[in-house]
Amino acid sequence: MTTETFTAYLVSKTAENTFVPAIVERPLEDLPAGDVLIRVAYSSLNYKDALSATGHPGVTRKFPHIPGIDAAGTVVSSAVEQFRPGDEVLVTGYDLGSNTWGGYAQYIRVPADWVVPLPAGLSLYESMIYGTAGFTAALSVDAMEHNGLSPEKGEVLVTGATGGVGSIAVAILAKIGYRVAAVTGKTTEHDYLRRLGATTILSRDEVNDQSNRPLLSARWAGAVDTVGGNILATILKSTQQHGSVAACGLVAGAELPTTVYPFILRGVNLLGIDSVLCPMEKRRAIWARLASDWKPDHLEEIATTITLAGLQEKIQAILQGKVRGRIVVEPK
Ligand SMILES: NC(=O)c1ccc[n+]([C@@H]2O[C@H](COP(=O)([O-])OP(=O)(O)OC[C@H]3O[C@@H](n4cnc5c(N)ncnc54)[C@H](OP(=O)(O)O)[C@@H]3O)[C@@H](O)[C@H]2O)c1
Repeated sequence: MTTETFTAYLVSKTAENTFVPAIVERPLEDLPAGDVLIRVAYSSLNYKDALSATGHPGVTRKFPHIPGIDAAGTVVSSAVEQFRPGDEVLVTGYDLGSNTWGGYAQYIRVPADWVVPLPAGLSLYESMIYGTAGFTAALSVDAMEHNGLSPEKGEVLVTGATGGVGSIAVAILAKIGYRVAAVTGKTTEHDYLRRLGATTILSRDEVNDQSNRPLLSARWAGAVDTVGGNILATILKSTQQHGSVAACGLVAGAELPTTVYPFILRGVNLLGIDSVLCPMEKRRAIWARLASDWKPDHLEEIATTITLAGLQEKIQAILQGKVRGRIVVEPK
């Protein structure tokens, strides 16, 4: 049995072009059309959710809108054989929370081909500690390993290391035997990063070269970059022969002021990471690893849990780069 209404964090656009959130009750019939109705147990907060909730047109154009690019919960009803009431599932990416109502609600309704069965070894809560951020961190590690990275090749750098993608990248890499150098702007969080498994901690300035030299001494075997801009350009100049850099974010800037020298003189691989439209077969394989050999021992240490009432404050914090780890959202 479903309830007639559901609670949600709904963002409306005003006549003055401002974006105002409210916690509302809506009838279930207001949900978008879709094959699978899911009762949401948990969602999470990603940087992209904060952009959506504050009206960034590159993420969300249709208002009123319920953000939340991630959701994990239980199937209530399904129009396809593949999913049955009671199945535990998760959804990340596709259009969820972008222009389709997302996980900051007690229910979502989505196309069946967005839905991933919860893998054995993972609880609904743990799946949302990962969310899109953890999935992206795992895609980054997977991409680097497919391009030849292995622990004996040397140290792997992670930027934005106390953020969502960064924290989980540090924890996964440490778990599977890499030496991890973590870049952070938060001087108070060095112990946190060491607990996740980082062995070297660097300030942002140390990876933000201003010399204009085309190459720097080759240090990193690999890197997960969540920030972009001149920091990504610096990493490319500092990557070892045939090393790999996974570019997944842009919190420091969308530009990339580089030359071709790292690519043609050192054979550096610049790997683009897209979690949103990752094909389903690979999606399931990555989630299976997150549930097994890549699962950090202290995953819960990365998480803080809030309800819908706590979202507005955390949305402002993540936009200012002030969040540590992952925020799990209980839609109540
Ligand atoms: N490609 C994809 O599919 C995909 C998927 C998920 C996320 N992303 C992108 O990845 C990025 C990170 O997402 P997230 O959810 O992990 O965000 P987040 O939790 O806010 O983490 C970002 C971290 O970057 C660091 N940072 C913030 N501002 C910075 C600046 N100006 N210069 C250098 N470092 C800065 C901060 O860590 P420190 O204080 O430790 O430095 C911050 O905690 C975002 O750009 C997001 O859009 C992309």
